[in-house]
Amino acid sequence: MSGLPWLVIVTGASRGLGRCLAQEAVRSIGKDHRMTLLLMARSESGLMETAASIRGMNSEDVTIEVQPVDLGNLSTLETSLQNAFSGLDARHYQRCVLFNNAGSLGELAPAMDLSFAGLREAVDLNITSAMWVTCAFVNLILPRWQQQQQQQGGDSGLAERPEGGAGQQQQSGDAQQQPNSADSQQPQQPPPPTEAGGSGSEGAAAASMPDVVVNISSLAAVKPFPTWAAYCAGKAARDMFHAALAAEHRASQLRVLSYAPGPLDTDMQARIRAADGCAPELRAFFATMQRDGALVRPSESAARCVRLVREGCWECGAHVDFFD
Ligand SMILES: NC(=O)c1ccc[n+]([C@@H]2O[C@H](COP(=O)([O-])OP(=O)(O)OC[C@H]3O[C@@H](n4cnc5c(N)ncnc54)[C@H](OP(=O)(O)O)[C@@H]3O)[C@@H](O)[C@H]2O)c1
Repeated sequence: MSGLPWLVIVTGASRGLGRCLAQEAVRSIGKDHRMTLLLMARSESGLMETAASIRGMNSEDVTIEVQPVDLGNLSTLETSLQNAFSGLDARHYQRCVLFNNAGSLGELAPAMDLSFAGLREAVDLNITSAMWVTCAFVNLILPRWQQQQQQQGGDSGLAERPEGGAGQQQQSGDAQQQPNSADSQQPQQPPPPTEAGGSGSEGAAAASMPDVVVNISSLAAVKPFPTWAAYCAGKAARDMFHAALAAEHRASQLRVLSYAPGPLDTDMQARIRAADGCAPELRAFFATMQRDGALVRPSESAARCVRLVREGCWECGAHVDFFD
């Protein structure tokens, strides 16, 4: 295998969809590219299990790093992310991909019965932390864009970047900033280069492959479910944050996808079926799906998601569902 490796970061990689995303990334991307794979979640043993399952996949060209971290603890989040990303220099990678997957249902109850603590916990993890993880990732890859800018003699493709953002201490500080474009007309986005080299020669496309942020979304981002108010609001907020991020960046540099993985046969679904606070009709609906084998296998959904990343065939910032 030649060329620079890829950097792939998966949050919530200790089980469920996150574990499958990590495995699928290695299976699909790792056969063509060397890779550094950073796995994050709270459970160290779960992360080690994920890592062990990948080592069993003939993945000698994959370097696996495991970072146990509570992404829901906002008082330690900045330091945790700085520590997790500290050994990584984006300029050493051909392409960087974030699967921003960690999430939790939080408290399931009618909106008016939510406890303040439960609401805050859901917002901390599903909204604030998820947004900050993406910000820290974008700051991590800034030096790569600056390097490309210098090599190509053009701008960095960064339309807007306020001072003092996530991971600010990691950047060299010479990014060429453009005026705030939030009120101006959306810049024209050129077609993204794909792995197939759809934009220019193969070599040029490989050199300028856009980095990717995948926000793991949900049908709940676009459809309200009773007793899931905090979760629905969290997923909707994440989608809009990532759509706005996409509007700030040229798709040739950063591609952003909100991917709804479908109803997955994971711990999260087990929790729905067991939660007293969940609307009975939802519990019954998902219990029937599980009984009938109609829940989506997380490996299948992860394969679709990784294929989307590789093929780049979505509008930057879009919400794409497994069933689309
Ligand atoms: N399951 C579904 O039907 C479904 C449907 C649509 C969307 N989704 C979304 O898909 C994603 C994955 O869901 P899943 O079904 O795989 O859920 P899951 O089995 O419950 O796994 C959740 C993952 O997030 C991690 N996580 C939770 N809290 C964390 C925290 N405070 N800090 C760091 N990591 C944390 C968990 O690891 P630790 O516990 O080790 O920290 C675990 O790896 C979520 O964003 C979910 O909203 C799921």
